[in-house]
Amino acid sequence: MERKWWKEGVVYQVYPRSFNDSNGDGIGDLRGITQKLDYLKDLGVDILWLSPVYESPNDDNGYDISNYRAIMEEFGTMEDWENMLEEIHKREMRLVMDLVVNHSSDEHAWFQESRKSKDNPYRDYYIWRDGKNGAEPNNWVSFFSGSAWDYDEATGQYYLHLFTDKQPDLNWENEQVRQEVYDMMNFWMDKGIDGFRMDVINLISKTPGLPNAEVTNKDNKYQWGGEHFVNGPRFMEFMNEMNEQALKHYDVMTVGETPMVKPEDGAAFTDEESGVLSMVFQFDHMEIDGDPGSQEGKWSVKPWKLSKMKEIMTDWQTSLNGKGWNSLYLENHDQPRSVSRFGDAEEYHKESAKMLATFYQLMQGTPYIYQGQEIGMTNVQFDSIEDYRDVEIHNWYNEQVTERGKDKQEIMHSIFVKGRDNARTPMQWSDENYAGFSDAEPWIKVNPNYTSINVKQQQEDEESILNYYKELIKVRKNHDVLIYGSYQLLDPEDEQVYAYTRELDGDKALIVANFTNEAIDYSVSESFPVEQAERLIGNYPSEQEEGGTLQLKPYEARVYRVQT
Ligand code: NOJ
Repeated sequence: MERKWWKEGVVYQVYPRSFNDSNGDGIGDLRGITQKLDYLKDLGVDILWLSPVYESPNDDNGYDISNYRAIMEEFGTMEDWENMLEEIHKREMRLVMDLVVNHSSDEHAWFQESRKSKDNPYRDYYIWRDGKNGAEPNNWVSFFSGSAWDYDEATGQYYLHLFTDKQPDLNWENEQVRQEVYDMMNFWMDKGIDGFRMDVINLISKTPGLPNAEVTNKDNKYQWGGEHFVNGPRFMEFMNEMNEQALKHYDVMTVGETPMVKPEDGAAFTDEESGVLSMVFQFDHMEIDGDPGSQEGKWSVKPWKLSKMKEIMTDWQTSLNGKGWNSLYLENHDQPRSVSRFGDAEEYHKESAKMLATFYQLMQGTPYIYQGQEIGMTNVQFDSIEDYRDVEIHNWYNEQVTERGKDKQEIMHSIFVKGRDNARTPMQWSDENYAGFSDAEPWIKVNPNYTSINVKQQQEDEESILNYYKELIKVRKNHDVLIYGSYQLLDPEDEQVYAYTRELDGDKALIVANFTNEAIDYSVSESFPVEQAERLIGNYPSEQEEGGTLQLKPYEARVYRVQT
């Protein structure tokens, strides 16, 4: 397996709107990020990924771009951005920018032109169709509720939008569109960035003719059309072209956000010989506590099983080993907080947050940390729907409560558990006003637990989650086996303890994580001589046990290493 800087590094995701506000308008900004670079360097991360900072009307917080070559005014200027990049590089860190090219904003000049007339030169930049029998051109549902089509009076046709109606899909069949995208990518790479995170990149190619989706939910008017746009027919061709015309001329990393991707696809997309991306974000483990195929889709709430988590993670680990490369994550700006989701944010906040970090960051792949995860930020519950900001949440609430009259409490519960705003509350820097994020009232409320969960407090506490993250990052960095080693799962059926080993040239590591709030005697497989092993890290003070049985405390995690 080839050595690469992006395999050895740890990525930190910044959601700029909620990270740090430098100018007192309640909205995070670029100078705010620059002010915190020393904090990030000290944490030990190597690569920063910024969610979109381009000009945008913010229907979907920057994932609706109206100018790909300009900075959003609320976030600052191009000069601020250039200064930030320089400061990142000065600290020997790298910058990955978000690339959102499945769709643009409807306020992008291309769409403004496109919608004017059927013969406008930009008409074919987007996907326009006539209606069928007085209805939409097909039955596809949008990711954010309702039809994926919107009727435009001016020309009497519909345009496709897989996300909100302010996010029209770009027409990748049009060569000119593709050229515009590659030119724009080169523009940013010429400025010196180190990579792209590619938003829903595996949705860019749609089945010709845009056929109806199979009816899988009879009660719903619109249907999931993934079969016609997930890893579509020309996806690999487009990506190869993108590599030829842009990426391969620079030393950059790419991570494709690829919904519905399976391990075989992930292996093909990231294959060191024939692949098109450095790594992908897969979603299998993010769907473990729901039933995405059900009527509620992502909003369904179900208990999850550790054995299922093992099956998913192991499938990804083994399918990509020796071929491609994994990304490792438990959180991002679209997901609930991991300590609330997979740990115990009440009674074992510290322990379970540290255990979760140990469990996922030491697998084979590049670990991602989402802002605030390193201090164990938790989910939030706002009493009123008015306090939520996310368009996905509002569309869901309106469809279910306002239009269908569903029980409000039940829908609010699904929002508490699954809503994206859980991850978007302001970063908790201190116990000062607005959690030290801003001097003014933030664009979204602060999680009230900022008085006890914040950076300042954790910097002062040796045993904090933050200090554990620092140590864990160092441990990984200092041991090639934890980066490049192969992965073997132990005890697949065990519903309490997740244990696996890593192996590289006679170097072997064991990672053990208790996922319960109970003390557990765990006997280590004979394949790992734990008595002769050195303990690398753990989230409880170390204790010497007799024999190969570990007496694990609630949510305890440990890492051992032997050289044979
Ligand atoms: C995935 C992004 O992560 C999410 O925030 C966004 O809403 C959709 N793609 C649409 O761009």
